[in-house]
Amino acid sequence: MIFQITYSSVAKPELTITDIEEIMAEAIENNSANDITGCLIFNQGYFLQILEGNKQNVMNLLDKIRLDDRHDHVIILSEGLTDSRTFKEWAMSYYHNPSNTNLNKEEQAIKETLIDLSNTSKKPNFPLKVFWYNVRNLLSERGYYKPPR
Ligand SMILES: Cc1cc2nc3c(=O)[nH]c(=O)nc-3n(C[C@H](O)[C@H](O)[C@H](O)COP(=O)(O)O)c2cc1C
Repeated sequence: MIFQITYSSVAKPELTITDIEEIMAEAIENNSANDITGCLIFNQGYFLQILEGNKQNVMNLLDKIRLDDRHDHVIILSEGLTDSRTFKEWAMSYYHNPSNTNLNKEEQAIKETLIDLSNTSKKPNFPLKVFWYNVRNLLSERGYYKPPR
């Protein structure tokens, strides 16, 4: 069984795109070594991340992430065991919601969930399965959604 956990956190206001690229590089390197996969989203000053893999490995990583001073207020939104990984092709993928107004259905659905999540700070077990499924589909179709320059 694969353990999956989704948390949100508040990014430090001074964080830059370069910082996020650094986090991604560290994540890809370490996660590959620990058989962890997932996706990171940065949106309006918030992070949303799903981590998946062996439960002990994921919890050890989360302990480390909690101590990271590039963000604060880590809140677990959903966790549990599942049959298969949603992001099995990616040690860590990055999704940036496009800022244009011509969003397709999946992009629009993702945007709405991100708004819902930022409206209330605490939403344990928010139904995130469809949300991450949509993100995964977009990433598969279009590749890496890079942070904007
Ligand atoms: C929002 C956020 C997400 C992160 N995601 C990961 C991750 O998926 N994997 C990882 O190894 N580190 C991640 N990090 C970085 C870790 O907190 C830590 O800095 C990194 O693992 C380096 O640890 P090391 O010095 O033991 O190599 C993340 C940090 C932040 C702020």
